[in-house]
Amino acid sequence: MERADTLAARDIRSLIHPFTNLAQLGIDGPLVIDRGEGVYVYDQDGRRYLEGMAGLWSTALGFSEQRLVRAAEAQLRRLPTYHLFGGKSHAPAIELAERLLAMAPVPMARTMFVGSGSEANDSALKLVRYYHHARGKPHKRKMISRVRGYHGVTLAAASLTGLPHAHRDFGLPLEGFLHADCPHYYRHGLPGETEEQFAARLADNLERLILREGPDTVGAFIAEPVMGAGGVIIPPASYFEKIQAVLRKHDVLLIADEVITGFGRTGAMFGCETFGIRPDLITLAKALSAGYLPIGAVLISPPIAEVMLEQSRKIGTFGHGFTFMGHPACAAVALRTLEIYVEDDVLGHVRAVAPLFAARLRELALHPLVGHARAVGLVGALELMADRVQKVPFDPALAVGPRVVARALEEGVILRPIGDIVSFCPPLVISAAEIDELFDAVSRALNRVADELGSEARDRVA
Ligand SMILES: Cc1ncc(COP(=O)(O)O)c(C=O)c1O
Repeated sequence: MERADTLAARDIRSLIHPFTNLAQLGIDGPLVIDRGEGVYVYDQDGRRYLEGMAGLWSTALGFSEQRLVRAAEAQLRRLPTYHLFGGKSHAPAIELAERLLAMAPVPMARTMFVGSGSEANDSALKLVRYYHHARGKPHKRKMISRVRGYHGVTLAAASLTGLPHAHRDFGLPLEGFLHADCPHYYRHGLPGETEEQFAARLADNLERLILREGPDTVGAFIAEPVMGAGGVIIPPASYFEKIQAVLRKHDVLLIADEVITGFGRTGAMFGCETFGIRPDLITLAKALSAGYLPIGAVLISPPIAEVMLEQSRKIGTFGHGFTFMGHPACAAVALRTLEIYVEDDVLGHVRAVAPLFAARLRELALHPLVGHARAVGLVGALELMADRVQKVPFDPALAVGPRVVARALEEGVILRPIGDIVSFCPPLVISAAEIDELFDAVSRALNRVADELGSEARDRVA
């Protein structure tokens, strides 16, 4: 075959890839994935990789769950597409809405479906504005998220996201989006400061921010229970307790972005349970359908739902919605996914293997390239450091994180670098033997990079 006709060459000519160096991709070419089986995917040459990131933090049940395939097929045969506008409805959306309300970590009154995590957060922000407006507080519109939070990429969701590359040259964040401190104790805790003291300092800073902006102008605070794409940052002890006290005091709503943490990732069904969070709105996507079809949701608290009903009595139509909101095939697959989580006791499995996952990760904390290892449930990270005692990062030009991930790929494992943080988020169904295989490969990858750095340093001296 002519090289110009390979899938890789055609990809480079035709596709835009998200969060990718497009120029570099033109040189390196894409990794074309052909099929999946269990926790593994195979490239077009038949090479097998353990998917250490569950795709994009989403493929909770692995890549070959036939029960989901059958659910999609049955629904596509019966009613392949329909909508919820103007009071139309269908059973998959109704049943899924009920099921989500029944399993929600705090009492929730209504489910609103969307197509993605970004749409979920964007829609949640609109509900915050609508709610405050209806209560006669139309100026409570500013939104607070956190440095290194990730909430998606629509104009509003990207404004919430606290990562420079989501803003740069897009003219973002939009006005009225504020970023509070990143709760990364390992990097930002002061010498001698306990986790609780660090959490208290961040809560004080948040209160100062709200007072400076004016509490009458601040609508909501949004947080991932565990920050994902910002580097798997697990909140310090008492963080959410202290933050929530500040929010309550100033009548600021709390949105829990459970797009990654929802459905078992942290060892409880929701991250809100793991960290004692009582939100007003919960946003969901990814593992809601085990990543098989695109669907997200916003869970809405009773007071907000009541205001929405009241507004309709007053002004008529609730003016928000997407064509594919609650799409029947997506909803049917999501419903079957939630059934499988219970039928197969996926949560029990996560709790059973999480100690091994954490132990294997912590072992790597002893590796000379690693400064910090952290895990909760089946999500974790290694933070690489040039000097682990003094916490001195590597020179970014060395690209140590990307190198470790590249070597891991050669060793048959797909991971993701976030600068010099290597993140782990395997399918929830990963077995103990597969966890060992994952960390054995990562260990070899770290050794290879340590050797490379050592010989490069020697070459520089020579
Ligand atoms: C916590 C969180 N919120 C929101 C999003 C955005 O979801 P989507 O990519 O489906 O728009 C993501 C995606 O990674 C996420 O991790």
